[in-house]
Amino acid sequence: MHKRAIVVFLVGLLVLLGGAAAYLLTEPATSVTRLPSQAGQTASGTATVGGAFELVDQSGETRTQADFAGRHMLVYFGYTYCPDVCPTSLSLMSQGLDLLETETGSLEERVVPIFVTVDPARDDVEAMAAYAEHFHPRLVALTGSDAQIAAAAKAYRVYYRRAEDPSASEYLMDHSSFIYLMGPDGTYVSHFAHNASPEEIAEGLKGFLKL
Ligand code: NI
Repeated sequence: MHKRAIVVFLVGLLVLLGGAAAYLLTEPATSVTRLPSQAGQTASGTATVGGAFELVDQSGETRTQADFAGRHMLVYFGYTYCPDVCPTSLSLMSQGLDLLETETGSLEERVVPIFVTVDPARDDVEAMAAYAEHFHPRLVALTGSDAQIAAAAKAYRVYYRRAEDPSASEYLMDHSSFIYLMGPDGTYVSHFAHNASPEEIAEGLKGFLKL
C-alpha cells in the first residue's frame, strides 16, 4: 500500500512538472501571459473578468459594452506594432470564427469579434482601421484615451506595460494575451489561449453558443 502511494505521488509530480514545463515553453517572449488575478475571483470561484467600457471604434464612433448586449463578444487586447503574438492571435480568432461561420452561416447576430489596443499612443483610429482590415471583416477595433484603455484593461484583468528597450527604434508592449469569450449579458464565459487553433476556437464557440 505504501509503495503504491509513493508511485501515485511520483506520477502526480511528473504530470505537474510536465504541465509547468509545457506552460513555460509556450510563453511568448514578448508577451506576458497571466491568468485573471486571484483578486478577481468571487467566493464561488468565478473570475470577474469584464464590465463596462467606453472606447472608440475604427470609424471614430464611441462604443460601449451596451452596444454589444445580446451577443457574445470575443475580446482580445493587444497592439498593432506587436511583432508576432497579436497578429497571430487575431488571425487565429478570425479563422476560428470563419471556420464556424462556414458551417453555420453568418453569426453576426450572435458573436462580435473585438480587438482592444493597449497602446493608444500609437494606435489611433486610423491605425486601428488599417490594421483591422487584415482580420475578420466584422472585427471591431477599439482604441481610446489612456484613461479609457486603462479602465477597459482593468475591467478585463488585462496586464500591459511599455517595455523600454533603448536599442530598439520602436518600443514593445508587454501584455496578457487571452482571447476572452463574453456572454450576451457581458459576463465572462471562457477564454482561449493566444495560440489556440482555429479548430479549437470554432469547436469551443460551437459548444458555448449551443450551435
Ligand atoms: Ni502582442
